Amino acid sequence: MNILFVGDIFGSAGRRIVREHIGHVCEAHDVELLIMNVENAAGGFGITPEIAEDLFSLGTDVMTTGNHVWDKRELIDYLNSVPADSRAHARRVLRPANLYPGLPGHGVFEGTTRSGVDYAVIDLMGRVFMNGTNDPFHAADDLLARIKAKVIIVDFHAEATSEKVAMGWHLDGRVTAVLGTHTHIPTADERLLLNGTAYQTDVGMSGPYDSVIGVERDLVLHRFLTGMPGKFEAAKGNPKMCATLVTCDPATGHASAIERIMLGE
Ligand SMILES: [Fe+2]
Ligand SMILES: [Fe+2]
Repeated sequence: MNILFVGDIFGSAGRRIVREHIGHVCEAHDVELLIMNVENAAGGFGITPEIAEDLFSLGTDVMTTGNHVWDKRELIDYLNSVPADSRAHARRVLRPANLYPGLPGHGVFEGTTRSGVDYAVIDLMGRVFMNGTNDPFHAADDLLARIKAKVIIVDFHAEATSEKVAMGWHLDGRVTAVLGTHTHIPTADERLLLNGTAYQTDVGMSGPYDSVIGVERDLVLHRFLTGMPGKFEAAKGNPKMCATLVTCDPATGHASAIERIMLGE
């Protein structure tokens, strides 16, 4: 079975390029499970319920986030609007699992695909160069101890390459894929690890590449050149959709192929 994971969707340019390509990519590869990281979908900062619903209309099964999950306050009511055992859209938008206990939302979603394959999607956030997270490695162990599905996709939203590579090896053979997000630049290290887990350090941003990781480049340059604070705005130029396609055996969850996709205008 084929699983498509779309990297951090950034602003309106990111949403537009994903809308342009997602249909033909899913059709060409007979995608059965579609996951998107949406932490920057609303102007670069967080996601609103309206934008989530718009992205669900593209056929998305599960959405993951990261450090920007709380940027739009209205998301909290959306996450709180459904019970833990719901399969409604609002339950399919995840926040990192390893935040402080008791925060709104959930870090894992367990569902069933249209052909009857049980799956789980886990959202984890790193803690090297990042704040507000607990140990993602033991959090992953705790989650895996209670997940029944064989097909398990982990979005590891982290800054440090070393932490991401380490997580890949930590979960090798226990999950279908460990796919990195957050740095907004795709890495060329997609591979199958030794025990059947597909791995990539970062899927890359789905958004404007004439930018500094999505933000208008002049605004970021001004901050680097002067040290002065300033408002960041989402760029528009040169949008690309970055996604990663993972093929796995639905019976065992083991991956057999991983392929990077990058599509522009
Ligand atoms: Fe991001
Ligand atoms: Fe992030």
